[in-house]
Amino acid sequence: MATPHSDALVFFGATGDLAYKKIFPALQAMVLHDGLDLPIIGVAHSGWTLEQLRQRAHDSLAQAAKEQGNRIDEAAFERFAAQLQYIDGDYNDPATFQQLKTMLGSATRPLHYLAIPPSLFGTVTKGLQQAGCANDARVVVEKPFGRDLASSQQLNRRLHEVFAEPAIFRIDHYLGKEAVQNLLYFRFANTFLEPVWNRNYVDSVQITMAESFGVAGRGAFYDDIGAIRDVVQNHLLQVISLLAMDSPIGNDPESLRAEKLRLFHAMRPIDPKQVVRGQFRGYREVNGVAAESNVETFVALCMYIDTWRWAGVPFYIRTGKSLPITTTEVMVKMKAPPLPIFDEIGPAQANYFRFRLSPEVVIAEGARVKQPGEQMQGEPVELVARHHSEPEKSPYERLLGDAIRGDNSLFSSDECVEAAWAVVDQVLTHEGAVSMYEPGSWGPAAAADLVSDSQGWHDPVAEASNPR
Ligand code: BG6
Repeated sequence: MATPHSDALVFFGATGDLAYKKIFPALQAMVLHDGLDLPIIGVAHSGWTLEQLRQRAHDSLAQAAKEQGNRIDEAAFERFAAQLQYIDGDYNDPATFQQLKTMLGSATRPLHYLAIPPSLFGTVTKGLQQAGCANDARVVVEKPFGRDLASSQQLNRRLHEVFAEPAIFRIDHYLGKEAVQNLLYFRFANTFLEPVWNRNYVDSVQITMAESFGVAGRGAFYDDIGAIRDVVQNHLLQVISLLAMDSPIGNDPESLRAEKLRLFHAMRPIDPKQVVRGQFRGYREVNGVAAESNVETFVALCMYIDTWRWAGVPFYIRTGKSLPITTTEVMVKMKAPPLPIFDEIGPAQANYFRFRLSPEVVIAEGARVKQPGEQMQGEPVELVARHHSEPEKSPYERLLGDAIRGDNSLFSSDECVEAAWAVVDQVLTHEGAVSMYEPGSWGPAAAADLVSDSQGWHDPVAEASNPR
């Protein structure tokens, strides 16, 4: 059933970091690509004027363009800036929301984007309700959604006091990435995968999300959450859900969500003994980070999915800041042939599927072929199914567009978010000391002991340019 489009976009936290880095560029792109034309109202409590907000938006877009080797498109910016309005007000003051009501004018189905800390969600949603700005409205909330299972349940209760579940859009920008979409597509648009996509043929799955930069500029935010809350509970468990779920029974958003939820429920809560937490040397000197911080900037772990399809197959996750490279890659390692037939020199690597999720989109299958000559000896080759390195539509542009259209397929439901917290919850309450690692390394040595496979972790390397 078609859902009505939102007719205004309100974003709280308009002067903040997220607006600067992601929301302004996404809105500008939507004006440019989709002709977005509706009132855009920024709200914050910074003592700013509309002119200052427009200047901030201009700076943000100039910066985003520069990062892509371009210059800001001034004509497009003028179109966007003309739609932008601003309310400077305290979220605890009903007058702020009255002013919003007046500014919304004839708009009756606003989309409210809460780019603010979760501790303020309740205050803002109540303010919206009391001023009559929540009727027929939708709300977008950012991750991390809570700090643990109990706080996420509490947040859900708070949101449900004002918004019905279908009107709540919990954003996880990973789900808006082209490569993550492709993972879902590749799995269920091909028949050859299904017979081998299970414990009989898959030996292990590894997911590495590596970042070569630290947390500079976000020290205080990061030191409050750490890697598990920042990217494991959300982005990486979402990737596992798409890799491991059964096929949805239809192509509607509800069927997809239902199948993902089943998978989340089958994830066994992670055993704290199967977790290695690390911190890069120098992190404690970053502005905003506590001098004695025990927060992890790296985590490696092993988890299991208790279904007939996946029983006993280890799923390894590794992520960290200040690692050797910036990339996210999935390796699905297949079992080795049952008996060796050929005299290989050293153990041959078994078949694998490699999904590079960023910065490039790559799907490759690792195989072995015979080297020319008399010996029956082989070499590894990769059959590349997709290699794409062009800049894609930004996840925020895609997801905000979906939210305006009322399409929640790429957003997390209350049950899904809570089930994901349940998977990491006991790790969060049993934190040991972090192990130090050198910036530019692959994290603490102890991470290697987690992997039972003799070949250890697969360390992603820079992708060769498009081989085709
Ligand atoms: C964010 C995390 O959600 O995802 C960041 O807060 C992380 O710490 C970022 O760097 C990675 O996303 P992307 O799309 O830049 O790879």
